[in-house]
Amino acid sequence: MMRRNISISNFHIVLITQTGVIYYFMETFSKNKVYVTRKIPEPGPSILKKYFQVNMNPEADILDRDTLLENVKNVDALICMLGDNVDSNVMDAAGPNLKIISCYSVGYDHVDIYEATKRKIIVTNTPNVLANTTADLTFSLILSAARNIVNADRHVRIGNWESGWSPDLFLGYDVNGSTLGIIGLGEIGMLVAKRARGFDMQVIYYSKTRKRQMESELDITFVPLEELLRRSDFVSIHVLLNKDSFHMIDESKIKLMKKTAFIINTSRGQVINEQHLINALRNKVIAGAGLDVYESEPISSSNPLTQFAQTVLLPHIGSATFKTRSKMAEVAANNIVNFFNGRGIVHKIN
Ligand code: DGY
Repeated sequence: MMRRNISISNFHIVLITQTGVIYYFMETFSKNKVYVTRKIPEPGPSILKKYFQVNMNPEADILDRDTLLENVKNVDALICMLGDNVDSNVMDAAGPNLKIISCYSVGYDHVDIYEATKRKIIVTNTPNVLANTTADLTFSLILSAARNIVNADRHVRIGNWESGWSPDLFLGYDVNGSTLGIIGLGEIGMLVAKRARGFDMQVIYYSKTRKRQMESELDITFVPLEELLRRSDFVSIHVLLNKDSFHMIDESKIKLMKKTAFIINTSRGQVINEQHLINALRNKVIAGAGLDVYESEPISSSNPLTQFAQTVLLPHIGSATFKTRSKMAEVAANNIVNFFNGRGIVHKIN
């Protein structure tokens, strides 16, 4: 006998038979409006266009506030990213249709989660796909800062390399055999720890919740934050930004670090009190810093951080590879598709 269940949602009719499931999509699905605040790469736009009315800012540059507020009017879904500041004003401007905010990022501190939750708006992100790429960049910052890569490159380019090999040219610090302190053992922190094994580094970590299973898997040791700062040659930050992590690294913490140590940050700039870091670099309290993120982005070329030879400064490019940005676009788009059709993974954060 053939069993036949029919369920009707806003977006599809499902017929379940003994032999399988057949989905009949109704046209209502395609009436939903999606706004993408900045141009994202394929396959994101194509995935969205299959199901929705899509309006995407044709530029990758950030929109001015008024245009953003205008363009989100009456949308059902929003894809946004760092720098957009999706607060109650944006949600008000979008109006009551807005059901999902899909972040084209793993971090979601640019969205007012409290406001979204209050309004029953789902917020999603793009985990899993960018951790390896960001861990790679973390390592390039460790190596560049320790071995003067950027300064040495500039030295060659501007024609200052005049006397050939020299016993004291650009002396740096060994990465191999050193101690790496990882603050925050999420996906990226773990992948940084994994890479550190190839450099015979001793890895210690601090995290709000101790991850005992990972300790044996990755051969890493949990230590209190203060101890981590005292012992590490490289301190690498991998925490989400929230009220607990805001300015977690300030003068009192930096003072605990070795004079020969480096601080590396690929998470969020506000985790470090930047003025305290500038003071510490100026007074040679630590050896240097490798930064991909800042308290306020972009930083200007007159930011004191740019004046130090012992800093390596990148423009927030942790996840910036062709492959990873495409994956992020795919996940961000599919979070919306899956939300509306009720199937597949939706990476919810609230
Ligand atoms: C993120 O995903 O949160 C990064 O900072 C941008 O890729």
